[in-house]
Amino acid sequence: MNVKSFFSEHIKAALKNDPPGAWMPDLPNGCIRLSSGYPDPALVPAVEIKGAAVRLLDEEQDLPLHYLGSPRIEGLKKQIQKRLAERGIEVMEDQLLITSGACQAIDLIARILLDDQAVVAVESPTYMEALEIFQNYTDQIISIPVDSEGLQPERLEEILNQRKRTDLTLPRFFYTIPTFQNPTGTTMTIERRKHLLELSNEFDFLILEDDAYGELAFGKSTLPLKSLDNRGRVLHVGSLSKVVAPGMRIGWIAGGSEFIKALEWFKKDLDHPFSQSTMAVYLENVDLEKRLDQLKDVYRAKCDALIRSLEQFLPKSVSWYVPEGGYFVWIRVPGVDTSHLLSQALAKGVSYVPGKYFFLDEKDGTEFLRLSFSYADEKEIIEGIRRLGQII
Ligand SMILES: Cc1ncc(COP(=O)(O)O)c(C=O)c1O
Repeated sequence: MNVKSFFSEHIKAALKNDPPGAWMPDLPNGCIRLSSGYPDPALVPAVEIKGAAVRLLDEEQDLPLHYLGSPRIEGLKKQIQKRLAERGIEVMEDQLLITSGACQAIDLIARILLDDQAVVAVESPTYMEALEIFQNYTDQIISIPVDSEGLQPERLEEILNQRKRTDLTLPRFFYTIPTFQNPTGTTMTIERRKHLLELSNEFDFLILEDDAYGELAFGKSTLPLKSLDNRGRVLHVGSLSKVVAPGMRIGWIAGGSEFIKALEWFKKDLDHPFSQSTMAVYLENVDLEKRLDQLKDVYRAKCDALIRSLEQFLPKSVSWYVPEGGYFVWIRVPGVDTSHLLSQALAKGVSYVPGKYFFLDEKDGTEFLRLSFSYADEKEIIEGIRRLGQII
């Protein structure tokens, strides 16, 4: 039997791309993990989530285990709505969809907006999993460079003008991680955010704002793009993965009700009522503001330790952006192919993600690598960078 003959054209095209998750090789035992965007294991509230699950089942018995789940799912929606309002995003109930993490949100948006005729624009570099998702739907992806102040909207404008002049299709949406970007850790300035919104109006495209790290500012926080959007151009994606627990798979999309309705067509029962109800109980009992302050303190200290270690152990030619929040530091090692260096790093007991995975054209990432300070503890971070310094 020729299995492939049963596949849709969509998956046939997608299977030509690299398999998902190639950037995450198995790590040798004892390897210091500076590669993964995982939360600090000590900050994952296992006891509280266990308490929430027990309380939920004690109070509601089998109810949360049915298809429709507990009425608390509506409560979760209200909690997210309230949190969004505190960050300048006012949405009604029909403008918010809970998803299985930000990844499902991005996938659903790609499903309703993309086909093989569609063009999508992304930042360069960008979150590799989003790239993978978009590549499953179209091969027409264009990328716009990011610098220390985030996306360069004037470069986007140039490209849009050029495409318009030459009758090329304009992007259907622009995918951006404006705050504590993955992988660069940079944050788009307010001026640039406004410029991007103006462009979306002038050239008639949507913006997919991925705000997975937006709540993790070490200092003053930046308001999401969506809070500046008075024309309904922005689909705002958020997640509790980085601030509560990724395994709970809780994310959301905030956007116009017509978009939300279309997204519901595909989402159906692909999410997890039990997990959502448990998260609702957890949030009923937690002081989220206090928790966020605690997370920020821990991640700020770890980021400082990483930056100090880079200054101490890496050659002067190596450069990086100092992030003001999030999980990542983006590093340039001139003259070095970071994907070749990785096997040596793993043998020495430290991991990172080679820059090539974050670019459409892998060559653009040759000299870059992404380090994450979220998962390892401070001692491990210092030792990990010492080892990296030796190899470089
Ligand atoms: C920019 C960005 N968006 C989305 C996600 C995935 O979030 P979730 O766990 O909610 O699917 C990540 C996780 O690494 C991320 O870095």
